[in-house]
Amino acid sequence: MALLILLEDHHVIVNSKSMTLAKDQINLENIPQHVAIIMDGNGRWAKSRGEERTFGHKNAIDAVRNAINACNEINIPYLTLYTFSSENWNRPDKEVNTLMNLLSETLLLEAEEIHNKGLRMHVIGDVDLLPDLVRDQLYSLAEITKDNKKGNLILALSYGSQKEMLKAVKEISQKVKDGKLEVEDITEKCFENHLYTKNFPPVDLLIRTSGEVRISNFLLWQIAYAELQFLDVLWPDFTKEHFFQCILDYQIKERRYGKTSEQLRIN
Ligand code: IPE
Ligand code: IPE
Ligand code: MG
Repeated sequence: MALLILLEDHHVIVNSKSMTLAKDQINLENIPQHVAIIMDGNGRWAKSRGEERTFGHKNAIDAVRNAINACNEINIPYLTLYTFSSENWNRPDKEVNTLMNLLSETLLLEAEEIHNKGLRMHVIGDVDLLPDLVRDQLYSLAEITKDNKKGNLILALSYGSQKEMLKAVKEISQKVKDGKLEVEDITEKCFENHLYTKNFPPVDLLIRTSGEVRISNFLLWQIAYAELQFLDVLWPDFTKEHFFQCILDYQIKERRYGKTSEQLRIN
């Protein structure tokens, strides 16, 4: 029987015959093109240590780094991180301020590393609501990294999927009203072209930490056929090994897109 032990920050699957890291078992021919993560559980992580919720946010940066590095190591081209939702603005001012300051500090500290890794940074969400400094930092990092080709790091900030879709509906309606678009031309593709994510492929794998089994207004359109994985791990405890295990679990799924298994085998 396989046992899970913790060894130097790695969960290692151990059995009597071998010791195998999840990463080594990944099939590099079947890598998800787009992974999205709901990074949840910082507050509970802090509370369980008798600390303020903000302590959890401060200790979440390593987990973000783990996710980015893991993606980079196995060449996942798109990673979207749910960093701050449109509903998170309703949290106490102190927590929102801490999160914005932390975001700004982290961008300052990590910008060079992101660029050196060859990652292109994008931001999706209602960025106009963000503090000017944070918005400027995000735009500047997006500009600096715009020619990078190793992978795309997409931060969902002040992001809400329902608002994103409403925005698309309004833009499309305006085009129809102005005679620039025919109603018959409102296809799935047309709709997607009005979402923040228009240049990104659909999500293949959605991971949520913290044990909550919900989507919380994240990429509702884009996850139509995503594989969903809910982990009983609080975000600050998330390691690269957790990530690689998610990829392994993803790889054993048969993605049928409405077809039958027999049809897939024939093709
Ligand atoms: C996720 O952790 C971080 C953000 C939503 C910004 P939480 O702060 O939601 O932590 P929990 O879910 O309350 O434990
Ligand atoms: C979702 O987590 C948002 C982010 C991780 C940024 P929440 O903690 O805000 O979600 P709910 O409120 O538990 O659904
Ligand atoms: Mg939460």
